[in-house]
Amino acid sequence: MNSLKHGGSDDARRFPEGFVWGVGTSSYQIEGAAATDGRAPSIWDTFAHTPGKVNRGDTGDIACNSYHRLDDDVQLLTELGVGAYRFSVSWPRVLPNGSGAVNVLGLDYYRRLIDRLCERDIKPVLTIYHWDLPQTLEDRGGWANRDAALALGELAAVLAEALGEQVAMWITINEPLQTVQQGYLNGSHAPGRRDPALAAAALHHILLGHGYALQALRSRLPDAAAGPSMDPQPFLALDQGSRAAAEALDAEYNRAYLDPVLRGSYPAALRADLMPPGELIQDGDLALISAPIDFFGLNYYRPHYLRRGDRFDLRVGESAIPGWRGTVRYMAPDLPRTVMGWPIVPAAMRDLLIRLHEETGGLPLYVTENGCAADDYLTPEGRVDDHERIAYIHGHLGAVLEAIAAGVNVAGYFHWSLMDNFEWAEGYRRRFGLHYVEFESGRRVRKRSAYFYRQVAISNELPPAPEPVLADAPLPAATGARSQ
Ligand code: FCB
Repeated sequence: MNSLKHGGSDDARRFPEGFVWGVGTSSYQIEGAAATDGRAPSIWDTFAHTPGKVNRGDTGDIACNSYHRLDDDVQLLTELGVGAYRFSVSWPRVLPNGSGAVNVLGLDYYRRLIDRLCERDIKPVLTIYHWDLPQTLEDRGGWANRDAALALGELAAVLAEALGEQVAMWITINEPLQTVQQGYLNGSHAPGRRDPALAAAALHHILLGHGYALQALRSRLPDAAAGPSMDPQPFLALDQGSRAAAEALDAEYNRAYLDPVLRGSYPAALRADLMPPGELIQDGDLALISAPIDFFGLNYYRPHYLRRGDRFDLRVGESAIPGWRGTVRYMAPDLPRTVMGWPIVPAAMRDLLIRLHEETGGLPLYVTENGCAADDYLTPEGRVDDHERIAYIHGHLGAVLEAIAAGVNVAGYFHWSLMDNFEWAEGYRRRFGLHYVEFESGRRVRKRSAYFYRQVAISNELPPAPEPVLADAPLPAATGARSQ
């Protein structure tokens, strides 16, 4: 990386003209209104209501109540100064049976949201599938059943026809890796399975769902910009002895998703029990999965370090790779970490962007998620002084600038998240937002980081260091205090 430019000149701190600044959320994490206006349950409703699955038994029944606070949230986005908002559609709100009859009231919610965003010049970036599979599809086998892939194509068609031209970017699927690893291998996410055979089937079908969604968009909206959001994981070997493990993990966690989409094949090095069996792969599947995309969305949070000597404990499931299980361990050396325990290493994101630039043949890359949980709290004066988050953002935006300086086409950055929300199995205890949410009342309060991010988004440049920004920042005021 010696050839990279570092800091110093104004140019080095400026983002390219037209760089997209956004924030992200997803339906189950923020909407609430779980049984309102014809919404049917998703696998996350079922999972969260199963005792022992989510921290403290939290559920998304009410969440941030964004379904009823749409105007407040669009106001937050407007005040934040962002040019784009990444949200996802709740599949069982729009197609309560997974496919077939459309729930017009559910669709209207997204139509209103998109209208409001467009009125404020905020680009709607729509994720079609962010983990809330309708329970009716789960009852028929979920992602292990090919029908789920076809149904995702149907959902994409419904959304394209109803919301069409106003959507600036379409994200087909979010982090298929997590569905496979956490949903089907270690069971920590919905639907809570621990079965490699089902995981292998889910892997193929969720990528096929991406393919069908893309096909549905292409035939209805030929000019639409569409691509997936994925979360390739950096595995960094700290010694020679861990290299083979790093490669095996790269095949399982990264190549298994990148290769089918970017090359039309599964990697030969994928552990055997996760390789989708031949009988599941029909003629034309891989062509559909690898159809051209317009951009690649990267969700990045942290790297993983490997070294020889201790037990490997990143995954609960059984490994089919001989020779390394039991000798390599996930560990973070002496690095700062977030409250999730995730090491903070912006350079790993830069290197991932450089790798993706090469793998995608120079496609526009968007960071579609990046952010950190912190122990945020309201001071007696009503402020949230989240200095760690500001430092995290500053570091990672510096990494984006370094990737751009190295020739990578990074076209935008979406901070995760607009506001604190339901953090899956962690429930509400993990706060990732630029806005603090007081879940009892639904009140949103701007954190310090929102002021910082606003400055970056509006100026399109990174200030030299967070400190002066903090010293100069006006006291945050509560916004959107109206409760429902
Ligand atoms: C990602 C998810 C997103 C959010 C962040 C913290 O894996 O896509 O919904 O929970 O993690």
